[in-house]
Amino acid sequence: MFIAWDSGAPGVIVAVVGICPHLGHVSGVEYVIETRDLAAGYGGGLILDGVNMSIEKNCITCIIGGSGCGKSTLLKAIVGQLQPVRGTVTLLGHDLYSVTEDERADILARAGLMFQYGALLGSLTLVENLEIPIKAHTRLRPEIIRAMIEMKLGLVYLSHALHRLPGELSGGMRKRAGLARAIVLDPDVVMCDEPTAGLDPITAAEIDELILKLRRVLGMTVIVVTHELSSIRHIADRIVMLQGGKLHFHGTLDEALASTDPALTAFFGRQNRNADRPGRSLLELVPAAVRSAATSAPGAPS
Ligand SMILES: Nc1ncnc2c1ncn2[C@@H]1O[C@H](COP(=O)(O)OP(=O)(O)OP(=O)(O)O)[C@@H](O)[C@H]1O
Ligand SMILES: [Mg+2]
Repeated sequence: MFIAWDSGAPGVIVAVVGICPHLGHVSGVEYVIETRDLAAGYGGGLILDGVNMSIEKNCITCIIGGSGCGKSTLLKAIVGQLQPVRGTVTLLGHDLYSVTEDERADILARAGLMFQYGALLGSLTLVENLEIPIKAHTRLRPEIIRAMIEMKLGLVYLSHALHRLPGELSGGMRKRAGLARAIVLDPDVVMCDEPTAGLDPITAAEIDELILKLRRVLGMTVIVVTHELSSIRHIADRIVMLQGGKLHFHGTLDEALASTDPALTAFFGRQNRNADRPGRSLLELVPAAVRSAATSAPGAPS
């Protein structure tokens, strides 16, 4: 259950009482990310147009919505990679686009992003890839840096692959390496853009377990952009749906599943129906009349 009173003024929460689903006790709710009237896009066109969203600390929030609706664009605006056209992004209590560049770099060091397409540098080993954010944000000694990297690659079960190039890894290993890089600086919040897309169900379930571990063991707040219903059911505390450039729904997983809103039932209902039925053969897709003509033709298999 969550009850929140918002003053209406940007970034000002008057009073909050809540029970984060996984915590199970009453606690003050802290928002790690807030967007107010956020508008962003490319080349003068708007993809997001007035997004108001608050992400609670220590929750796993899944962002859903149709392909091209702006989920990755939203993450880019949150991690300082896409200057908004309008509105504000408050990350960990700081208005991200009002601070100086140095201050923004310090804030962003506390927020990790696992990119949709991996974005590991192909000519560098995993250790070298993970060194980049540490060297960019700290002046730690090489042996400390090495220990941090080994710890994070161990956490994602890649201790045996420290010196491999990304091209020498399987798809699931690359996703795990991307996750290790996103958390290498022990961020307060980590955002994962489609972490299980294109993976087999077993490997996808391993990534889901790692995401749960980030919250449970390391106390991170996690945002996951995903289309995968099995992942959503397993990991989500909260659901955010984007549609038409705006936040269309924000609630608990149970609220999303019980909703009669057409966009939510289309998303969850279609996936439920597909999950309940075995795969269709190509023959089933052929209209019945054509099928019967074909099967009654001379020489057709009976
Ligand atoms: N760098 C860019 N330059 C121009 N247009 C872009 C750029 N990146 C994304 N877009 C466009 O912005 C829209 C939203 O893209 P975005 O990647 O945010 O969608 P998405 O919801 O993450 O989709 P998907 O589920 O397929 O990953 C799309 O129409 C896309 O073509
Ligand atoms: Mg995307």
